[in-house]
Amino acid sequence: MARWLTRLMDTQDVWVKPFGNFLHGIVQAIFRAVPSIRDLLNGRWLGHPIHAVLTDAPIGILFLVIVFDVLGMADAAWWTLAIGILAMLGAALAGFADYAETDGKARDRGTLHSSLMLLALVLFLISLVLRPGLGSGAPVSAAAIALSLVAWLIVAASAYVGGDIVYALGNMVDRHAFRGGGTKWIAMEPGELEVDGSIPEGRPVKAKLGVNSLVLVRNGPVILALHDTCAHAGCSLSGGTLVAASGGGAASPVVECPCHGSRFRLGDGRVLRGPSVYDQPAYEVRQREGGGWEARRQAN
Ligand code: FES
Repeated sequence: MARWLTRLMDTQDVWVKPFGNFLHGIVQAIFRAVPSIRDLLNGRWLGHPIHAVLTDAPIGILFLVIVFDVLGMADAAWWTLAIGILAMLGAALAGFADYAETDGKARDRGTLHSSLMLLALVLFLISLVLRPGLGSGAPVSAAAIALSLVAWLIVAASAYVGGDIVYALGNMVDRHAFRGGGTKWIAMEPGELEVDGSIPEGRPVKAKLGVNSLVLVRNGPVILALHDTCAHAGCSLSGGTLVAASGGGAASPVVECPCHGSRFRLGDGRVLRGPSVYDQPAYEVRQREGGGWEARRQAN
């Protein structure tokens, strides 16, 4: 079943890709102009994607419209539909904030998901307009009932696509969700060193720590280190840039991811700007007695 549904979604790429290129460009331009609002809608302040939280409300509320229609409670159905539409708009705003910094297959699926939701929204709005006024006592037309039923089925189908974006494609999932917190010191191999054996200052340097990669930044005598894989979508932070520390009372340097601009404080991995809503694993680094370097993950 899942394979058949995946193929069905893939067949939509014929219109999803060109439309997505157009839509994504607009959405990204809007949200990049207001990064603090995008952060708010991404859920950085909560440490969890907001869209996932907000979607439950409209799906549940709009299902009640069907229940009230079946029970012949016209006014209750009208109010529920109106509130459900408002809840849908709130969820859509948060969803577009995530979509603004989504690439590849997840973006294609996001285009399909948002297109279906917009179609359902239009059908819900028409259904609302077709319904008799509050307190009129007139029966709801079959067309209005049918439209809200079809719209809810489209919402359910679109929710499946949304689930695919998260569970199958891992979008907005913490890239360090399964990483252990080990506290053992492990030998570390910086990717490049100065001729005197020191780690270069003032720019990110990649290093190997067992099976992991780190990004190092020398800050005077202190070596600051984070995991190199960005928590948002996995880009390499060692390809990023150092930016002036700002926000969150930051005192240590800040690295900006080269892909979508998430910013992490190097001292403790705290995320200072989205779209990542997750902190980055931070490491302690020290010189080994016999020469060379070693590192271990900071305790949370
Ligand atoms: S991969 Fe998206 S901000 Fe780093």
